[in-house]
Amino acid sequence: MNDTAIITGGAGFIGSHLARRLHDSGREVVLVDNLATGRLENVQPLLDRGVRLIEGTAAEVLSDSAVFDGVSEVYHLAAAVGVKLIVDDPAGMIATNIDDTIAVLRACAAAGAAVLVTSSSEVYGKCPVLPLREDMDLVFGPTTASRWSYGLTKALDEHLAIDLARRDGLKAVVVRLFNTIGPRQVGRYGMVVPRFVSRACAGQDLDVYGDGEQTRAFCDVRDVVRALTDLMACGDAFGRVFNVGHDRRITIRRLAELVLERAAAAGRTGGAIRTLPYEAVYGEGFEDPPHRLPDVSRLREAIGWTPAFSLEQTIDTLIADECSGGTLVPDNDAASTPGERVKESEKA
Ligand SMILES: NC(=O)c1ccc[n+]([C@@H]2O[C@H](COP(=O)([O-])OP(=O)(O)OC[C@H]3O[C@@H](n4cnc5c(N)ncnc54)[C@H](O)[C@@H]3O)[C@@H](O)[C@H]2O)c1
Repeated sequence: MNDTAIITGGAGFIGSHLARRLHDSGREVVLVDNLATGRLENVQPLLDRGVRLIEGTAAEVLSDSAVFDGVSEVYHLAAAVGVKLIVDDPAGMIATNIDDTIAVLRACAAAGAAVLVTSSSEVYGKCPVLPLREDMDLVFGPTTASRWSYGLTKALDEHLAIDLARRDGLKAVVVRLFNTIGPRQVGRYGMVVPRFVSRACAGQDLDVYGDGEQTRAFCDVRDVVRALTDLMACGDAFGRVFNVGHDRRITIRRLAELVLERAAAAGRTGGAIRTLPYEAVYGEGFEDPPHRLPDVSRLREAIGWTPAFSLEQTIDTLIADECSGGTLVPDNDAASTPGERVKESEKA
C-alpha cells in the first residue's frame, strides 16, 4: 500500500514537528535533509524509532525514482530560511529555493505523488492592506534590496506548483506560512521569538530592531503542522493556495515586553529592551514590512482550522524548555494540548 510520506527539510524546525505528527498517526515517514540549517538532534527520537533520514539535497534525493516506492505524499519544506541567511547569501538561497522546488515538483508529477509546497507570508512583500488574503496583488521592493529575493523565490515556487497542477494534473497544494514558533526553532538565522526567549532566560537585554511598532502574528508550530496534514487530506485543497497563521498580531516591542514578563514569572529576571536601527543589523537599505496578518477564512472553510495555542502558551513552553537547560522535545507534542506535554531528553 502506498502510505509513506516524504518530508524534505524533515530535520528542520517545522519538518521535525510534522514528522512527529505523521509518525504518531501511524504513517511511514522518510526525511530528506542536507542538514544546512536542520539538526540531527531535532529528529533523533524519531530516528531511534526507525524513521529513515536520507542526507542530501531534495533535488538529488528525489531524482532517484526508487525513493518513491510506496510513497503517496511529499511535504516539500526544504529551503534556505531566515532573513539573516538570505541577506548574507541571496544567490545561494535563490538557487536552493528554485532549483530544488522544480526538481521536487517534477519528480512528484512523474511518480504520481501528491505534494504540499511551503511558501511564505514573504510573498506579500510590503502589501499595505490587512488582513492579507491569498488573492491579493504581491508588492515587492527593488531588486537592489536583497530581502525581497526570498519572497520572490517563494512566489515562483507557487507558480511552478500551480502550473504543474493545471497542466500535468499534479496534486499540489501551496501553503503560505506566517511566523511559526515553538520548540526546536533556533534564533541564529534572525527568528525573533527564540532569540528573545533565550536572551530573557539568560537575563540579557532584548534587541528590538527599528521602532518596535511593526506587527506580526505568531502561530504555534503544533497548530501549523495540523493544518498541513489536514490540507493534504482534503481533496479540494489541490491546485489552491492557503494562508496558515495566527489571526492575532502583536507589536515586536510588546512581544519583547511579554517575553520579559513571562521570563520574570519563571524566575528569570535582569533583561531589558534595547532598540537597534535595522541598518546596524542588516546593513544599509534594509526594508521590513511594517505589518503582517493573515486572513485565514479560506483555510477555515476548507478544513475547519483554528489555532489551539495562544502566544502566551507557546512562550511559556519555550521558557520552560530554556529554564530546564535547553530545547525540550515534548514526547507527544504533535497531538498534545498545552497542559499535557511531557519532557524528553534530547540525544545528540
Ligand atoms: N518558520 C517560519 O516561521 C516560516 C515562515 C514561512 C515559511 N516557512 C517555510 O517553512 C519551511 C520550513 O522552515 P523552518 O522554519 O522549519 O526552517 P528550517 O531551516 O528549520 O528548515 C528547513 C530545512 O530544510 C533543510 N534544507 C535546506 N536546503 C535543503 C536542500 N536543498 N535539500 C534538503 N534539505 C534542505 C535544512 O537543513 C532544514 O532542515 C521552509 O520552506 C520555509 O521557507 C517557515
